[in-house]
Amino acid sequence: MNHYDEPAFFAAYAQMYRSQAGLTGAGEWQQLQPLLPDLRGKDVLDLGCGYGWHCKYAADHGAQNVIGIDLSEKMISEARSRNNHERIEYHVASLVDWVYPSAAYDVVVSSLVLHYVEDLDMVYRMVHKTLRPGGVFVMNIEHPTFTAGVNQQFSEDGTWPVDHYYYPGKRQTDFLGHSITKYHHTLTQILNGLIRAGFRLEAVEEAMPPEEWREMMPEEMRRPMMLLVKAVKQ
Ligand SMILES: C[S@@+](CC[C@H](N)C(=O)[O-])C[C@H]1O[C@@H](n2cnc3c(N)ncnc32)[C@H](O)[C@@H]1O
Repeated sequence: MNHYDEPAFFAAYAQMYRSQAGLTGAGEWQQLQPLLPDLRGKDVLDLGCGYGWHCKYAADHGAQNVIGIDLSEKMISEARSRNNHERIEYHVASLVDWVYPSAAYDVVVSSLVLHYVEDLDMVYRMVHKTLRPGGVFVMNIEHPTFTAGVNQQFSEDGTWPVDHYYYPGKRQTDFLGHSITKYHHTLTQILNGLIRAGFRLEAVEEAMPPEEWREMMPEEMRRPMMLLVKAVKQ
């Protein structure tokens, strides 16, 4: 079962500030938003849409057709009730098994999902196929310094230990007090994989909390948690 359908984890996720406040409650939004192209009249696909915040943003900013897919029934049901819009369709589906139509979208978004996927190259190929020429892929994945973090926790001496960096693959992590499976990918895999799949990298950002949040979340200034990329289909 997907972790997000486990009632206790789903309930813990719902308590997060970003789950309650939406995009303005997400520390990386100030960096992610400028990576999105003009959405007016665009066809948009959101891979792992969760509660649907990015889908709603796209529809509110003029996208003509938005599809959000997520593996979790509970997340999709939450998306349908919180972020419903006449131009958004939500589907329960895995982004790994989804049948991607060729050259059907102008924009593909994936926020905080790809570290749950083992084979990034396969996803990149599918995203490249489903974008129209010049189409934009905006992704936010947990940073390799974070996914290679031991248990994804600060150690008792207060440092952030990184280990087995060059061994990508499954990691059992402690997220919100639950044992959650994620996948570590090296920086080379994440970025060169996009280039190999036929993308041009337009922007790479490491999420840093806005200045006014830094006192509240000092650990986010000690190691990057997220890597944001804007890639364009050549
Ligand atoms: C941290 S949440 C992010 C949700 C949303 N994109 C956001 O930024 O608010 C991760 C989401 O990825 C979904 N997910 C994990 N593996 C997936 C897969 N193989 N296919 C589709 N969705 C997946 C989970 O169900 C969950 O909703």
